[in-house]
Amino acid sequence: INMTGTLALSVFTAVLGSFQFGYNIGVINAPQKIIEADYNATWVHRYGEPIPTATLTTLWSLSVAIFSIGGMISSFCVGVISEWLGRKAMLINNLFAFIGGGLMGMAKISRSFEMMILGRFVIGAYCGLASGLVPMYVGEIAPTSLRGALGTLHQLAIVTGILIAQVLGLESLLGSEELWPVLVGVTVLPTVLQMVLLPFCPESPRFLYIIRCQEHHAKSGLRRLTGRQEVGDMLAEMKEEKRRMDMERKVSIAELFRSPMYRQPIIIAILLQLSQQLSGVNAIFYYSTSIFQKAGVQSPVYATIGAGVVNCAFTVVSLFLVERTGRRTLHMLGLSGMCGCAIVMTIALALLDSVPWMSYISMLAIFGFVAFFEVGPGPIPWFFVAELFSQGPRPAAMAVAGFSNWTANFIIGFGFQYLAELCGPYVFLIFAVLLVFFLIFTFFRVPETRGKTFDQISASFSKHPPAMMDLDMELGKRSTELDYLGGEGSLD
Ligand code: GLC
Repeated sequence: INMTGTLALSVFTAVLGSFQFGYNIGVINAPQKIIEADYNATWVHRYGEPIPTATLTTLWSLSVAIFSIGGMISSFCVGVISEWLGRKAMLINNLFAFIGGGLMGMAKISRSFEMMILGRFVIGAYCGLASGLVPMYVGEIAPTSLRGALGTLHQLAIVTGILIAQVLGLESLLGSEELWPVLVGVTVLPTVLQMVLLPFCPESPRFLYIIRCQEHHAKSGLRRLTGRQEVGDMLAEMKEEKRRMDMERKVSIAELFRSPMYRQPIIIAILLQLSQQLSGVNAIFYYSTSIFQKAGVQSPVYATIGAGVVNCAFTVVSLFLVERTGRRTLHMLGLSGMCGCAIVMTIALALLDSVPWMSYISMLAIFGFVAFFEVGPGPIPWFFVAELFSQGPRPAAMAVAGFSNWTANFIIGFGFQYLAELCGPYVFLIFAVLLVFFLIFTFFRVPETRGKTFDQISASFSKHPPAMMDLDMELGKRSTELDYLGGEGSLD
C-alpha cells in the first residue's frame, strides 16, 4: 500500500482541524458550574445583585448551543469557499480559531460573558468549515484502497479531541476557577501547528486538475503523495472524471435536488448524517455526567471520561475494519448495536428503583452505545459523502450534508433535556425507534463504496439509478486491488 511521508503529513495536518472540532464539543461539559459562577460574578459586578436563575440558564444554554449555530452557518458555505480557495481555505479558517479562542480565553479578565458566547459562535463557525473541508481534502488525496481508513482519521481526531478536553476539564487540571480561560483558550495551539505544517502539504491534485485545469501542478502533487514518478494512470482516471464533468453544468445546491442523477446520493448523504446525529450520541457527550448521575453511577465525572476512552478505542477498531468489512456492513452493525443498547438502558433505568445494581447495567449500556456508534455511524457518514460524489457536485453536497449534521446536532443539544424531563427513563426509546428506521434505510438504499473510484461510484448512480446493488457486485470485487484513485484503465 502506498502510504508516503507526504500523504501521512498531509492527513495529519488536516485532521488537526478535526481535533479542534472534538475539543470544542467536549470542553464545555465539565466546567459548567465554574464558568456559571463567573457569569454570576460579572452580573454582580455590573448590577450589584446576583444573576436571576432563569437568566443564568439562558446564558449558559446559549453558550453551549450557539456553537452549533456557528457550525450550521459556516458548513453551509463549505462548497463556495472550497471551490474558491481550495486547501488554502483550511489555512484561512484558522483565523476563526484564533478569534474564537482569543475571545473565550479573554472573557474572564474582560468580565464579559458576551465575549464567551461570541467566542463559542466563532469557534463553532471554525468547526463547521473544518467538518467539511477536512473530509473532502483527505478523501481527495487518499488512495482508493485507503480512503475509508484515512477518512476515519477525521473521526479519530474528533474523539481524541473530546477525550483530551474531558480530561483537561477536570477540576484538578484546567477546569478550575482560575484556569478555565486557559482550558477554552488552548484551542489555538493546534491551530498554530496546522499553520506551520500546511505549507508543506500539497493541494489536492483532483482539485488542481479537474477544477483549476492545472495539469502540471496536479502531477507534481500526485508524485509527492504517491512517491511514484509514473502517475499517468491516476491522471487518466481524473481525466475521465473531468471529461464527464465538463459536459455538465456547474452543480449548485438546488441542482443536487433537481437532477435525477444527484437526488439519490444526496438523500443518502443527508440520511446518513441524520442517522449519526439522531442516534442520540450527543445526548451522551453533552449530558453524560447528569445521565450517569440519574442512573445512580458512583463517580459520574470519571464515567464520562470512561465513555470518552471507549469512544476512542472503538474508533480505532473501525479504522482497521473499514477497508475489510466495508462501510455498509459496519454502519448497519453500529446502528443495530446502538439500538440494542438503547433498549437495555431503558430497561435498566426503569428498574433502577427496585434493583440497585441496574446502575452498573445502564453504565455498561452507555459504554456499549458509544462503542457501537464509533464502529460505523460515527466515522462513516463524514467521509461517505465525499465518496458518493464526483469532483463537480462534491462541494455542494458536502455543504448540504454538513448543514444537515449541524442542524440535527443543534436539535439534540437543545432538545434533549426537555425530552428527558418529559419521558423520564424512556427517553432512549425514541432513539431506538429512529435507529431502526435508519437501519432499514441503510439496508435498502446505501451502496457499498469500498474499493471503488469516485468515478465508478457516481457512475453507479447515473447509469442504473435504482439498481445500485448489482453494481456493487460488479465493481466491488474487482476494484479492491486497484491502488491510487483506481488507475483501472490506461486510457492514454
Ligand atoms: C461525530 C459527530 C459528533 C459527535 C462525535 C462523538 O464526530 O459528528 O457530533 O460528538 O462523533 O464522537
